[in-house]
Amino acid sequence: MISLQPLANTKPSSLCFNRFSSKPRTKFKPITVHSLLQYNRKPQLAGETPRVVVITSGKGGVGKTTTTANIGLSLARLGFSVVAIDADVGLRNLDLLLGLENRVNYTVVEVLNGDCRLDQALVRDKRWSNFELLCISKPRSKLPLGFGGKALIWLVEALKAREEGVPDFIIIDCPAGIDAGFITAITPANEAVLVTTPDITSLRDADRVTGLLECDGIRDIKMIVNRVRTDMIKGEDMMSVLDVQEMLGLPLLGVIPEDNEVIRSTNRGYPLVLNKPPALAGLAFEQAAWRLVEQDSMKAVMMEEEPKKRGFFSFFGG
Ligand SMILES: Nc1ncnc2c1ncn2[C@@H]1O[C@H](COP(=O)(O)OP(=O)(O)O)[C@@H](O)[C@H]1O
Ligand SMILES: [Mg+2]
Repeated sequence: MISLQPLANTKPSSLCFNRFSSKPRTKFKPITVHSLLQYNRKPQLAGETPRVVVITSGKGGVGKTTTTANIGLSLARLGFSVVAIDADVGLRNLDLLLGLENRVNYTVVEVLNGDCRLDQALVRDKRWSNFELLCISKPRSKLPLGFGGKALIWLVEALKAREEGVPDFIIIDCPAGIDAGFITAITPANEAVLVTTPDITSLRDADRVTGLLECDGIRDIKMIVNRVRTDMIKGEDMMSVLDVQEMLGLPLLGVIPEDNEVIRSTNRGYPLVLNKPPALAGLAFEQAAWRLVEQDSMKAVMMEEEPKKRGFFSFFGG
């Protein structure tokens, strides 16, 4: 079991985690985590704004939309302005995960047709007003004829020119596959987060996608390994995170455990990172968001009841 304990001299709202405890294990008392904000400060935003980040994978069902929703809301909670674009045209579901499906009245297609203004298509989250959702088209529709990378580049430029100012992050939820929808979604991005699960089919697709991203000029690619199960890794039934890293050769942004809370939160339309107390996967998404903002400067983070065992988060702390 993994237990969490704040470091000394930290306020309850400024949680830090440490893998190494000087206290005897018998005196260790697990605590409830009240807040995910670490170091009691806002992370330093690296790079120029807006940071246009595409969340991609190749294979479907590995957790792109879950990652977009949770990292997007984590960034908003950290104080950054975020626009999340659902570029999965035929199978849009980011609105569902965010619980915003009833508030999407207009989409980018209508903006481009001149039927509405861009700000009418942007859905502002009531929980975090610095988070906005933008859907490309209605559910079950096809990629509109002539809609391609240039349309998304126009969209990014239009978002930059808004009265509200330039958003800090534009996060694009990419469709599965490597066809037209994928090419369109990656066109305006200057960095990518590749989501993979530790299985061979997902890894092969991730490797192919990495090549395509590089061909498109996106060199800043980080990966998230999702649905990791330590019990299976211990039993050598699942690849370890290190194996995945060796196979893909990409910097690691985060490792997300398999967690039933993810499925529960998906069905409730209430992203995991907003849960109180946070689930383990929520903490992992929050950490990934920090690393994205500060470009890997975050130190880490977790303490285990048995420090000598290499646990789920051990790669963070070394
Ligand atoms: N870490 C996780 N633990 C458990 N279930 C997960 C996890 N990540 C994603 N899922 C589930 O997997 C399914 C697919 O996730 P989704 O984000 O829609 O994938 P994609 O966008 O890549 O198709 C969803 O039902 C989601 O709840
Ligand atoms: Mg999806």
